Amino acid sequence: MTKVITYGTYDFLHEGHIRLLERAKALGDYLIVGVTADDFDMARGKINVRQSLMERVEAIRQTGLADKIIIEEYEGQKIDDIRRYEVDIFTVGSDWVGKFDYLNEFCKVVYLDRTEGISSTEIRSQHQSLRIGLVGETNIVNKFKNECHFVNGIEITGIYASSKGVLDRELQDLASKTEDYVDLLKKCDAVYIASKPSEHYAQVKTALESDVNVLCESPITMTVDQFKELSDLAYERKLVLMDGIKTAYSLAFNRMMLLIKSGIIGEILSVDTTCTSLIDIDEDNPPKHLWNSITAWGPTALLPIFKIFGTDYVQTMRFSKPLKGDDDFDLFTKISFIYDAGVASIKVGQGVKSEGEMVISGTKGYVYVPAPWWKTDYFEVRYENPSENKRYFYQLEGEGIRYEILSFLNMIKGRKSYNRVSPEISRQIIEIVGNKRELQNGSIF
Ligand code: CTP
Repeated sequence: MTKVITYGTYDFLHEGHIRLLERAKALGDYLIVGVTADDFDMARGKINVRQSLMERVEAIRQTGLADKIIIEEYEGQKIDDIRRYEVDIFTVGSDWVGKFDYLNEFCKVVYLDRTEGISSTEIRSQHQSLRIGLVGETNIVNKFKNECHFVNGIEITGIYASSKGVLDRELQDLASKTEDYVDLLKKCDAVYIASKPSEHYAQVKTALESDVNVLCESPITMTVDQFKELSDLAYERKLVLMDGIKTAYSLAFNRMMLLIKSGIIGEILSVDTTCTSLIDIDEDNPPKHLWNSITAWGPTALLPIFKIFGTDYVQTMRFSKPLKGDDDFDLFTKISFIYDAGVASIKVGQGVKSEGEMVISGTKGYVYVPAPWWKTDYFEVRYENPSENKRYFYQLEGEGIRYEILSFLNMIKGRKSYNRVSPEISRQIIEIVGNKRELQNGSIF
Protein backbone atom coordinates (compact mmCIF):
# COMPACT_ATOMS: atom_id res chain seq x y z
CA MET A 1 0.00 0.00 0.00
CA THR A 2 1.37 3.43 -0.96
CA LYS A 3 0.75 6.07 1.72
CA VAL A 4 0.59 9.73 0.73
CA ILE A 5 0.63 12.73 3.06
CA THR A 6 -0.17 16.40 2.42
CA TYR A 7 -0.60 19.46 4.61
CA GLY A 8 -2.45 22.75 4.49
CA THR A 9 -4.59 25.30 6.30
CA TYR A 10 -7.62 24.79 4.06
CA ASP A 11 -9.36 27.99 5.10
CA PHE A 12 -12.63 28.29 3.15
CA LEU A 13 -11.95 25.03 1.30
CA HIS A 14 -11.92 25.82 -2.40
CA GLU A 15 -11.54 24.22 -5.81
CA GLY A 16 -7.73 24.55 -5.70
CA HIS A 17 -7.60 22.52 -2.46
CA ILE A 18 -9.96 19.85 -3.75
CA ARG A 19 -8.04 19.41 -7.00
CA LEU A 20 -4.82 19.06 -5.03
CA LEU A 21 -6.34 16.47 -2.69
CA GLU A 22 -7.69 14.47 -5.64
CA ARG A 23 -4.29 14.35 -7.31
CA ALA A 24 -2.57 13.59 -4.01
CA LYS A 25 -4.94 10.68 -3.46
CA ALA A 26 -4.24 9.42 -6.99
CA LEU A 27 -0.52 9.19 -6.17
CA GLY A 28 -1.16 6.23 -3.85
CA ASP A 29 -3.74 4.13 -2.01
CA TYR A 30 -4.07 5.91 1.32
CA LEU A 31 -4.19 9.70 1.87
CA ILE A 32 -3.32 11.44 5.14
CA VAL A 33 -4.24 15.13 5.31
CA GLY A 34 -2.56 17.33 7.90
CA VAL A 35 -4.57 20.40 8.88
CA THR A 36 -2.71 23.21 10.67
CA ALA A 37 -3.77 24.02 14.23
CA ASP A 38 -4.80 27.62 14.93
CA ASP A 39 -1.83 28.19 17.24
CA PHE A 40 0.61 26.75 14.73
CA ASP A 41 -0.67 29.12 12.04
CA MET A 42 -0.38 32.01 14.50
CA ALA A 43 3.15 31.06 15.45
CA ARG A 44 4.25 30.96 11.80
CA GLY A 45 2.71 34.39 11.17
CA LYS A 46 -0.41 33.23 9.31
CA ILE A 47 -2.89 35.08 11.47
CA ASN A 48 -5.67 35.74 9.01
CA VAL A 49 -7.22 32.32 8.99
CA ARG A 50 -10.95 32.88 9.41
CA GLN A 51 -12.32 29.40 10.00
CA SER A 52 -11.70 27.48 13.18
CA LEU A 53 -9.70 24.24 13.16
CA MET A 54 -12.93 22.27 13.62
CA GLU A 55 -14.56 23.93 10.62
CA ARG A 56 -11.52 23.31 8.44
CA VAL A 57 -11.20 19.67 9.52
CA GLU A 58 -14.92 19.14 8.90
CA ALA A 59 -14.63 20.57 5.38
CA ILE A 60 -11.79 18.14 4.59
CA ARG A 61 -13.77 15.25 6.05
CA GLN A 62 -16.73 16.09 3.84
CA THR A 63 -14.64 15.83 0.66
CA GLY A 64 -14.39 12.09 1.39
CA LEU A 65 -10.85 12.17 -0.04
CA ALA A 66 -8.89 11.83 3.21
CA ASP A 67 -8.42 8.36 4.72
CA LYS A 68 -6.98 9.99 7.81
CA ILE A 69 -6.95 13.58 9.06
CA ILE A 70 -4.26 14.74 11.48
CA ILE A 71 -3.50 18.09 13.09
CA GLU A 72 -0.19 19.83 12.46
CA GLU A 73 0.86 21.52 15.66
CA TYR A 74 4.59 22.17 15.61
CA GLU A 75 7.60 22.97 13.49
CA GLY A 76 9.32 19.77 12.39
CA GLN A 77 6.23 17.61 12.87
CA LYS A 78 6.25 16.50 9.23
CA ILE A 79 9.30 14.32 9.80
CA ASP A 80 7.67 12.76 12.85
CA ASP A 81 4.46 12.08 10.93
CA ILE A 82 6.25 10.56 7.93
CA ARG A 83 8.06 8.15 10.23
CA ARG A 84 5.07 7.38 12.44
CA TYR A 85 2.67 6.64 9.60
CA GLU A 86 5.33 5.06 7.35
CA VAL A 87 4.54 7.49 4.56
CA ASP A 88 5.85 6.84 1.03
CA ILE A 89 5.04 10.15 -0.65
CA PHE A 90 4.86 13.70 0.67
CA THR A 91 3.09 16.14 -1.62
CA VAL A 92 2.10 19.82 -1.68
CA GLY A 93 1.32 22.47 -4.29
CA SER A 94 3.92 24.01 -6.58
CA ASP A 95 3.92 27.24 -4.54
CA TRP A 96 6.20 25.31 -2.18
CA VAL A 97 8.72 24.02 -4.75
CA GLY A 98 12.11 23.40 -3.11
CA LYS A 99 10.84 24.18 0.37
CA PHE A 100 10.34 20.55 1.36
CA ASP A 101 13.26 18.94 -0.47
CA TYR A 102 14.75 18.13 2.92
CA LEU A 103 12.03 15.49 3.35
CA ASN A 104 13.54 13.46 0.45
CA GLU A 105 15.66 11.83 3.13
CA PHE A 106 12.51 10.25 4.59
CA CYS A 107 10.17 9.69 1.61
CA LYS A 108 9.52 10.78 -1.98
CA VAL A 109 8.59 14.47 -2.36
CA VAL A 110 6.17 15.47 -5.14
CA TYR A 111 5.17 19.05 -5.96
CA LEU A 112 1.83 19.20 -7.76
CA ASP A 113 0.85 22.10 -9.99
CA ARG A 114 -1.12 24.70 -8.07
CA THR A 115 -4.51 25.62 -9.52
CA GLU A 116 -4.29 29.10 -10.99
CA GLY A 117 -6.58 31.95 -9.99
CA ILE A 118 -7.88 30.86 -6.59
CA SER A 119 -6.62 31.05 -3.01
CA SER A 120 -7.95 31.33 0.54
CA THR A 121 -6.43 34.81 0.71
CA GLU A 122 -8.57 35.92 -2.22
CA ILE A 123 -11.73 34.38 -0.75
CA ARG A 124 -11.08 36.05 2.60
CA SER A 125 -10.71 39.43 0.92
CA GLN A 126 -14.10 38.96 -0.79
CA HIS A 127 -15.85 38.53 2.53
CA GLN A 128 -17.33 41.74 3.76
CA SER A 129 -14.74 43.86 5.54
CA LEU A 130 -15.16 45.32 8.97
CA ARG A 131 -15.17 49.09 8.60
CA ILE A 132 -13.16 50.49 11.47
CA GLY A 133 -12.71 54.11 12.55
CA LEU A 134 -9.77 55.32 14.64
CA VAL A 135 -10.06 57.82 17.48
CA GLY A 136 -7.09 59.48 19.14
CA GLU A 137 -3.87 61.32 18.58
CA THR A 138 -1.06 59.27 20.15
CA ASN A 139 1.58 57.15 18.46
CA ILE A 140 -0.32 53.97 19.31
CA VAL A 141 -2.88 54.95 16.66
CA ASN A 142 -0.13 54.83 14.01
CA LYS A 143 0.91 51.38 15.22
CA PHE A 144 -2.68 50.19 15.25
CA LYS A 145 -3.24 51.38 11.69
CA ASN A 146 -0.09 49.57 10.50
CA GLU A 147 -1.14 46.37 12.23
CA CYS A 148 -4.60 46.47 10.61
CA HIS A 149 -2.86 45.80 7.29
CA PHE A 150 -1.85 42.36 8.58
CA VAL A 151 -5.39 41.29 9.33
CA ASN A 152 -7.64 40.41 6.40
CA GLY A 153 -11.09 41.87 6.44
CA ILE A 154 -10.38 45.26 8.03
CA GLU A 155 -10.92 48.54 6.26
CA ILE A 156 -9.96 51.81 7.95
CA THR A 157 -12.64 54.33 7.13
CA GLY A 158 -11.34 57.42 8.94
CA ILE A 159 -9.76 58.93 12.01
CA TYR A 160 -11.06 61.45 14.47
CA ALA A 161 -8.22 63.23 16.31
CA SER A 162 -8.11 66.45 18.30
CA SER A 163 -4.56 67.14 17.06
CA LYS A 164 -2.58 65.61 14.22
CA GLY A 165 0.96 66.20 15.52
CA VAL A 166 2.23 62.65 15.97
CA LEU A 167 0.06 61.01 13.33
CA ASP A 168 1.81 59.71 10.26
CA ARG A 169 1.17 61.11 6.78
CA GLU A 170 -1.51 58.60 5.82
CA LEU A 171 -3.50 59.25 9.01
CA GLN A 172 -3.06 63.02 8.79
CA ASP A 173 -4.64 62.91 5.33
CA LEU A 174 -7.48 60.75 6.61
CA ALA A 175 -7.97 62.99 9.66
CA SER A 176 -8.44 66.06 7.46
CA LYS A 177 -11.47 64.33 5.97
CA THR A 178 -13.06 63.49 9.33
CA GLU A 179 -13.73 66.55 11.43
CA ASP A 180 -16.90 65.22 13.04
CA TYR A 181 -16.99 62.16 15.35
CA VAL A 182 -20.67 61.34 14.79
CA ASP A 183 -20.11 61.55 11.07
CA LEU A 184 -17.23 59.04 11.36
CA LEU A 185 -19.44 56.66 13.33
CA LYS A 186 -21.97 56.60 10.49
CA LYS A 187 -19.32 55.07 8.23
CA CYS A 188 -18.10 52.43 10.73
CA ASP A 189 -19.01 49.02 12.13
CA ALA A 190 -16.40 49.45 14.87
CA VAL A 191 -14.07 52.03 16.40
CA TYR A 192 -10.69 51.80 18.05
CA ILE A 193 -10.45 54.48 20.75
CA ALA A 194 -7.04 55.66 21.96
CA SER A 195 -7.87 59.22 22.93
CA LYS A 196 -7.25 60.72 26.38
CA PRO A 197 -8.87 58.53 29.07
CA SER A 198 -11.07 61.44 30.22
CA GLU A 199 -12.68 61.43 26.75
CA HIS A 200 -13.29 57.68 26.58
CA TYR A 201 -16.64 57.63 28.36
CA ALA A 202 -18.41 60.08 26.05
CA GLN A 203 -16.82 58.63 22.92
CA VAL A 204 -17.59 55.01 23.82
CA LYS A 205 -21.16 55.94 24.75
CA THR A 206 -21.80 57.79 21.49
CA ALA A 207 -20.33 54.86 19.53
CA LEU A 208 -22.51 52.28 21.28
CA GLU A 209 -25.59 54.46 20.84
CA SER A 210 -24.75 54.54 17.13
CA ASP A 211 -24.61 50.71 17.08
CA VAL A 212 -20.84 50.67 16.61
CA ASN A 213 -18.61 48.07 18.32
CA VAL A 214 -15.78 49.43 20.47
CA LEU A 215 -12.20 48.47 21.18
CA CYS A 216 -10.94 51.00 23.73
CA GLU A 217 -7.48 51.44 25.22
CA SER A 218 -7.57 50.67 28.92
CA PRO A 219 -8.92 52.16 31.18
CA ILE A 220 -12.22 52.23 29.32
CA THR A 221 -13.60 54.88 31.68
CA MET A 222 -12.41 56.75 34.74
CA THR A 223 -15.20 55.58 37.06
CA VAL A 224 -16.69 52.19 37.78
CA ASP A 225 -20.25 53.53 37.44
CA GLN A 226 -19.52 54.79 33.95
CA PHE A 227 -18.05 51.42 33.02
CA LYS A 228 -21.13 49.61 34.29
CA GLU A 229 -23.39 51.92 32.30
CA LEU A 230 -21.39 51.33 29.10
CA SER A 231 -21.17 47.55 29.64
CA ASP A 232 -24.95 47.39 30.10
CA LEU A 233 -25.46 49.48 26.98
CA ALA A 234 -23.17 47.21 24.94
CA TYR A 235 -24.97 44.13 26.27
CA GLU A 236 -28.44 45.51 25.46
CA ARG A 237 -27.40 46.39 21.94
CA LYS A 238 -25.47 43.15 21.40
CA LEU A 239 -22.28 45.05 20.70
CA VAL A 240 -18.70 44.33 21.66
CA LEU A 241 -16.97 46.60 24.19
CA MET A 242 -13.43 45.30 24.42
CA ASP A 243 -10.60 46.40 26.70
CA GLY A 244 -7.50 47.18 24.65
CA ILE A 245 -4.59 45.75 26.62
CA LYS A 246 -2.35 44.32 23.93
CA THR A 247 -0.27 42.17 26.29
CA ALA A 248 -3.41 40.13 27.01
CA TYR A 249 -3.31 38.92 23.40
CA SER A 250 0.32 37.84 23.19
CA LEU A 251 0.70 34.11 22.71
CA ALA A 252 3.59 33.83 25.19
CA PHE A 253 1.66 35.69 27.88
CA ASN A 254 -1.32 33.38 27.48
CA ARG A 255 0.83 30.26 27.47
CA MET A 256 2.59 31.44 30.60
CA MET A 257 -0.75 31.99 32.36
CA LEU A 258 -1.89 28.48 31.43
CA LEU A 259 1.40 26.96 32.59
CA ILE A 260 1.31 28.57 36.00
CA LYS A 261 -2.36 27.70 36.45
CA SER A 262 -1.41 24.09 35.76
CA GLY A 263 0.84 24.20 38.84
CA ILE A 264 4.29 24.28 37.20
CA ILE A 265 5.65 26.55 39.96
CA GLY A 266 3.39 25.25 42.71
CA GLU A 267 1.14 27.53 44.70
CA ILE A 268 1.59 31.17 43.73
CA LEU A 269 2.41 33.51 46.57
CA SER A 270 3.64 36.65 44.87
CA VAL A 271 3.35 38.54 41.56
CA ASP A 272 5.48 41.60 40.91
CA THR A 273 5.30 43.69 37.76
CA THR A 274 7.25 46.78 36.76
CA CYS A 275 6.52 49.06 33.79
CA THR A 276 8.38 52.32 33.34
CA SER A 277 9.28 54.73 30.57
CA LEU A 278 11.34 57.80 31.30
CA ILE A 279 9.88 60.73 29.40
CA ASP A 280 10.87 64.38 29.28
CA ILE A 281 8.37 66.41 31.24
CA ASP A 282 8.58 70.16 31.62
CA GLU A 283 7.44 70.42 35.24
CA ASP A 284 6.32 74.04 34.83
CA ASN A 285 4.36 73.37 31.69
CA PRO A 286 3.37 69.69 31.47
CA PRO A 287 1.99 68.71 28.06
CA LYS A 288 -1.75 68.18 28.19
CA HIS A 289 -1.90 65.07 25.97
CA LEU A 290 0.29 62.95 28.29
CA TRP A 291 -1.28 60.11 30.21
CA ASN A 292 -0.12 60.02 33.82
CA SER A 293 1.91 57.00 34.94
CA ILE A 294 -0.87 54.97 36.53
CA THR A 295 -3.18 55.52 33.56
CA ALA A 296 -0.54 54.77 30.95
CA TRP A 297 0.94 51.69 32.64
CA GLY A 298 -1.52 50.65 35.36
CA PRO A 299 -3.82 48.47 33.22
CA THR A 300 -0.93 46.45 31.78
CA ALA A 301 0.85 46.10 35.12
CA LEU A 302 -2.36 45.03 36.88
CA LEU A 303 -3.42 42.49 34.25
CA PRO A 304 -1.30 39.49 35.37
CA ILE A 305 -2.07 40.17 39.02
CA PHE A 306 -5.82 40.17 38.50
CA LYS A 307 -5.57 37.18 36.18
CA ILE A 308 -3.67 35.16 38.75
CA PHE A 309 -5.10 36.28 42.08
CA GLY A 310 -8.45 37.66 40.94
CA THR A 311 -9.80 41.07 41.93
CA ASP A 312 -10.82 40.29 45.46
CA TYR A 313 -7.85 41.68 47.38
CA VAL A 314 -8.07 42.49 51.07
CA GLN A 315 -6.01 45.66 51.16
CA THR A 316 -3.82 47.92 49.05
CA MET A 317 -0.98 50.20 50.01
CA ARG A 318 0.08 52.91 47.63
CA PHE A 319 2.91 55.35 47.17
CA SER A 320 2.74 58.00 44.46
CA LYS A 321 5.06 60.84 43.61
CA PRO A 322 3.03 63.59 41.94
CA LEU A 323 4.35 66.13 39.48
CA LYS A 324 5.05 69.52 41.09
CA GLY A 325 1.87 71.58 40.87
CA ASP A 326 -0.21 68.78 39.33
CA ASP A 327 -1.60 66.28 41.82
CA ASP A 328 -3.31 64.40 39.00
CA PHE A 329 -0.03 63.49 37.36
CA ASP A 330 1.94 60.78 39.14
CA LEU A 331 5.54 60.53 38.03
CA PHE A 332 5.79 57.23 39.84
CA THR A 333 3.41 54.90 41.66
CA LYS A 334 3.93 51.70 43.56
CA ILE A 335 0.94 49.72 44.82
CA SER A 336 1.03 46.61 46.97
CA PHE A 337 -1.95 44.27 47.09
CA ILE A 338 -2.64 41.92 49.96
CA TYR A 339 -4.77 38.87 49.15
CA ASP A 340 -5.77 35.96 51.33
CA ALA A 341 -3.65 33.72 49.12
CA GLY A 342 -0.61 35.94 48.56
CA VAL A 343 0.76 39.39 47.75
CA ALA A 344 1.36 41.39 44.60
CA SER A 345 2.83 44.70 43.56
CA ILE A 346 2.96 47.00 40.58
CA LYS A 347 5.61 49.65 40.00
CA VAL A 348 4.79 52.12 37.22
CA GLY A 349 6.31 55.39 36.21
CA GLN A 350 7.09 57.93 33.58
CA GLY A 351 9.37 59.92 35.84
CA VAL A 352 11.46 57.02 37.08
CA LYS A 353 13.40 54.21 35.43
CA SER A 354 13.53 50.64 36.62
CA GLU A 355 13.93 47.12 35.21
CA GLY A 356 10.70 46.32 33.34
CA GLU A 357 10.44 42.71 34.43
CA MET A 358 7.82 40.44 35.90
CA VAL A 359 8.43 37.80 38.56
CA ILE A 360 5.81 35.29 39.66
CA SER A 361 6.90 33.35 42.73
CA GLY A 362 5.53 29.98 43.73
CA THR A 363 6.20 27.26 46.26
CA LYS A 364 8.09 25.09 43.73
CA GLY A 365 9.80 27.74 41.59
CA TYR A 366 9.26 31.04 39.83
CA VAL A 367 8.54 32.50 36.42
CA TYR A 368 10.87 35.21 35.23
CA VAL A 369 9.88 37.42 32.30
CA PRO A 370 12.67 39.79 31.25
CA ALA A 371 12.13 43.43 30.25
CA PRO A 372 10.04 44.53 28.55
CA TRP A 373 7.74 41.82 29.92
CA TRP A 374 4.62 43.45 28.46
CA LYS A 375 5.96 42.59 25.01
CA THR A 376 6.48 39.02 26.14
CA ASP A 377 7.90 36.58 23.63
CA TYR A 378 10.16 34.76 26.05
CA PHE A 379 10.02 33.63 29.65
CA GLU A 380 11.79 31.23 31.95
CA VAL A 381 10.52 28.86 34.59
CA ARG A 382 13.24 28.61 37.21
CA TYR A 383 13.77 26.16 40.07
CA GLU A 384 16.09 25.70 43.01
CA ASN A 385 18.06 23.28 40.86
CA PRO A 386 19.02 25.31 37.76
CA SER A 387 19.32 22.18 35.62
CA GLU A 388 15.52 21.86 35.82
CA ASN A 389 14.95 25.39 34.45
CA LYS A 390 12.87 25.64 31.32
CA ARG A 391 12.79 28.36 28.67
CA TYR A 392 9.83 29.20 26.51
CA PHE A 393 9.75 31.30 23.35
CA TYR A 394 6.71 32.25 21.29
CA GLN A 395 7.02 34.61 18.35
CA LEU A 396 5.28 37.93 18.99
CA GLU A 397 4.31 39.91 15.91
CA GLY A 398 3.37 43.58 16.11
CA GLU A 399 3.62 43.85 19.92
CA GLY A 400 0.40 41.82 20.25
CA ILE A 401 -1.74 44.47 18.52
CA ARG A 402 -2.29 42.17 15.53
CA TYR A 403 -3.72 39.42 17.69
CA GLU A 404 -5.80 41.97 19.59
CA ILE A 405 -7.39 43.17 16.33
CA LEU A 406 -8.04 39.60 15.28
CA SER A 407 -9.72 38.84 18.61
CA PHE A 408 -11.85 41.96 18.25
CA LEU A 409 -12.92 40.78 14.80
CA ASN A 410 -13.79 37.33 16.15
CA MET A 411 -15.69 38.78 19.11
CA ILE A 412 -17.79 40.86 16.73
CA LYS A 413 -18.58 37.63 14.91
CA GLY A 414 -19.94 36.30 18.19
CA ARG A 415 -16.93 34.22 19.25
CA LYS A 416 -16.83 35.42 22.85
CA SER A 417 -14.05 33.06 23.87
CA TYR A 418 -11.56 35.39 22.16
CA ASN A 419 -11.90 37.92 24.97
CA ARG A 420 -8.82 37.90 27.20
CA VAL A 421 -9.75 40.70 29.64
CA SER A 422 -12.89 39.90 31.61
CA PRO A 423 -15.32 42.70 32.51
CA GLU A 424 -14.44 42.10 36.16
CA ILE A 425 -10.76 42.82 35.44
CA SER A 426 -11.65 45.92 33.38
CA ARG A 427 -13.81 47.15 36.25
CA GLN A 428 -11.10 46.62 38.86
CA ILE A 429 -8.48 48.31 36.69
CA ILE A 430 -10.76 51.35 36.58
CA GLU A 431 -11.22 51.18 40.34
CA ILE A 432 -7.44 51.38 40.85
CA VAL A 433 -6.50 53.75 38.03
CA GLY A 434 -9.44 56.08 38.55
CA ASN A 435 -9.04 56.36 42.31
CA LYS A 436 -7.82 59.95 42.64
CA ARG A 437 -8.03 59.75 46.43
CA GLU A 438 -5.01 57.51 46.41
CA LEU A 439 -2.86 59.96 44.48
CA GLN A 440 -1.04 61.13 47.54
CA ASN A 441 2.32 60.30 48.92
CA GLY A 442 2.33 57.05 50.85
CA SER A 443 -1.41 56.59 51.42
CA ILE A 444 -2.63 53.35 52.89
CA PHE A 445 -6.05 51.97 51.91
N1 CTP B 1 -3.31 24.81 -3.35
C1 CTP B 1 -3.43 24.54 -4.72
N2 CTP B 1 -4.02 25.46 -5.53
C2 CTP B 1 -4.53 26.61 -5.02
C3 CTP B 1 -4.43 26.89 -3.65
C4 CTP B 1 -3.82 25.95 -2.82
O1 CTP B 1 -2.98 23.50 -5.21
N3 CTP B 1 -5.09 27.49 -5.85
C5 CTP B 1 -2.64 23.83 -2.49
C6 CTP B 1 -1.41 24.40 -1.81
O2 CTP B 1 -0.30 24.38 -2.67
C7 CTP B 1 -1.27 23.46 -0.62
C8 CTP B 1 -2.72 23.11 -0.27
O3 CTP B 1 -3.51 23.46 -1.43
O4 CTP B 1 -0.60 22.29 -1.01
C9 CTP B 1 -3.21 23.87 0.93
O5 CTP B 1 -2.98 25.24 0.72
P1 CTP B 1 -3.37 26.43 1.68
O6 CTP B 1 -2.15 27.20 2.03
O7 CTP B 1 -4.23 25.94 2.77
O8 CTP B 1 -4.32 27.28 0.67
P2 CTP B 1 -4.11 28.69 -0.02
O9 CTP B 1 -5.34 28.96 -0.83
O10 CTP B 1 -2.80 28.75 -0.75
O11 CTP B 1 -4.09 29.63 1.25
P3 CTP B 1 -3.51 31.11 1.46
O12 CTP B 1 -4.13 31.97 0.39
O13 CTP B 1 -3.93 31.48 2.86
O14 CTP B 1 -2.01 31.03 1.33
